[in-house]
Amino acid sequence: MTKRVAILISGSGSNMVSLVKSMTGDHPARPVLVLSNNPAAAGLKKAQDLHVPTGAIDHRPFAGDRVGFESKLQEALLAAHPDIVCLAGFMRILTPEFTQGWRGRMLNIHPSLLPKYKGLNTHARALAAGDHEHGCTVHEVTAELDGGPVLGQSVIKVTAEDTADSLAARLLPLEHELYAAVLRRFAAGDRTPVTLRA
Ligand code: GRF
Repeated sequence: MTKRVAILISGSGSNMVSLVKSMTGDHPARPVLVLSNNPAAAGLKKAQDLHVPTGAIDHRPFAGDRVGFESKLQEALLAAHPDIVCLAGFMRILTPEFTQGWRGRMLNIHPSLLPKYKGLNTHARALAAGDHEHGCTVHEVTAELDGGPVLGQSVIKVTAEDTADSLAARLLPLEHELYAAVLRRFAAGDRTPVTLRA
């Protein structure tokens, strides 16, 4: 049975594009919705150009009312009947109650080798720590921010010339490759972690 995939974005949606384009042929999943907390997210147009239904729930009117925002988000999600929800550059923190409702069916990509550098500014933190390796992680989303079971990692060497921007730029195509590989395996019911090395 083909799995239905909803993708949550906040901005450019490059990871979303990679996921949508990967779901063809004998892939066990298909995209059914791209949803953003930002009505102006550039990724929404990209999704429309790829003929994927889109939606936007602006989080700004819900300032201080995270639960109110999430109930609208949940309503839009449930209308698409997804089997899997992929967070892809989605920049809102979700409450434990919300994530618990999607436990085992929600994935996220994070630009570090978790459990290192949960949260923001991961590239600068890896550089500041003098790490020789850095990378990105796809994990199951749980109540703990950036803390769920790891489903895949892609590793790159850090060079002496690297800056936070150069690391981000070198990592982004690896995120696209990793997330597509993990989603294909996850949609087939296989949670064996994917490890890629650039
Ligand atoms: C990516 O670096 C991703 O790791 C982070 O958001 C950035 C932009 O992602 N979460 P996208 O282009 O919107 O997919």
